[in-house]
Amino acid sequence: MSFQADFKPELELIDTYFHSVFRYQNSCPLPELERFWQSLTYSFFSDGKRFRPLLAVLTAKALGRPPELTLTLAAAVELIHTYSLIHDDLPCMDNDDLRRGKPTNHKVFGEAGALLAGDGLLTMAFGVLAQAPSPNAATAVALLSTAAGPRGMVGGQALDIESAQPGETLLTEIHQRKTGALIRVSVEAAAVLCGADAREIDALRTYGEHLGMAFQLADDLQDHDPEKPEKISFTSLLGITETLKRLERSSQAALDSLVSFPDAWGLRRMVQLNRERV
Ligand code: IPE
Ligand code: IPE
Ligand code: MG
Ligand code: MG
Repeated sequence: MSFQADFKPELELIDTYFHSVFRYQNSCPLPELERFWQSLTYSFFSDGKRFRPLLAVLTAKALGRPPELTLTLAAAVELIHTYSLIHDDLPCMDNDDLRRGKPTNHKVFGEAGALLAGDGLLTMAFGVLAQAPSPNAATAVALLSTAAGPRGMVGGQALDIESAQPGETLLTEIHQRKTGALIRVSVEAAAVLCGADAREIDALRTYGEHLGMAFQLADDLQDHDPEKPEKISFTSLLGITETLKRLERSSQAALDSLVSFPDAWGLRRMVQLNRERV
C-alpha cells in the first residue's frame, strides 16, 4: 500500500497534530515517569499506517469541510487502536513478540508497563476527543465509546476468545466488532463532527461498515499461510477464492455508498489501497 505517496499532506497534518497532543499531555514530566512516557510513544509513533486517522480527515474532505475539524477524532481512534494492539499482544492474550517488525511493548517495557501504557492511551483518547472544535463533540465521544467498548471492539475481542470454532455467522460478528467498529466510527463520528445531515451520516456509516469488512477480508488474505495452522479466519473458513470474491463485493459496496459525494476521492482511494494490499 502506498499511503505515504497518496496522502502526504494529510499524513503530515495528522503527524504534526499527534506530536502536539503528546507535547501537551506530557508538559510537566517527572524524571520517574520518563520510561512510562517512552512506552506510550514507543507504540504510538511506530510506523502504523494511520488508516483510521486518514479516514477521519478524508471524511471531512468528502464533506467539503476543513480537515482540522476531525483531528481530535483522528488522534482518539489511533490512541484506542494503539492501546488495543499493546493489550492484544500481551502474553495473556495473543502472546506476540513482534508488532510492525519491532519488539512488542511488553517485550521492551515489561507486562505491567505495557498494561499501563494501554490504559494511558485509552484514557487519553476520550479527553482529546472531548475537545473537538464542534458542537457535536459529546455525540462523537458517545459513538466512539460504543464502537470501542463492550458493544464494539472490546466485545469483539471477548467473542474472539470465547468462540472456539466459530462458523461464518459468528466469525463475521467477531470481525464486525473487533475490527469493523473502529473503522466505521472513524468515518461516522467524523461526519458528525463536521455537522453532516442525517442522510450524509447514514451513507458514510454504510461506507465505513463495508470498508471495515473489506479491511478484515484483505487482512485475512494477506496473513494467509497454508503452511501454518492459522487462527480462524475468512480464508481458513471460506477458502481464498471465496474470500477474494467477498473482498470485491465489500469494496464495491463501499464505493457505491459514496455516489452522492463528489469530493470523496480520498475515501474512494482508501478502498482501492486496501484492495491492492492483497
Ligand atoms: C491491524 O490494524 C490490526 C487489526 C485491527 C486487524 P492495522 O493494519 O491498521 O495496523 P497498523 O496500525 O497499520 O500497524
Ligand atoms: C487485533 O486483532 C485487533 C484488536 C486488537 C482489536 P488480531 O489479534 O486478530 O490481529 P493481529 O494479528 O494481532 O494484528
Ligand atoms: Mg487477537
Ligand atoms: Mg493479535
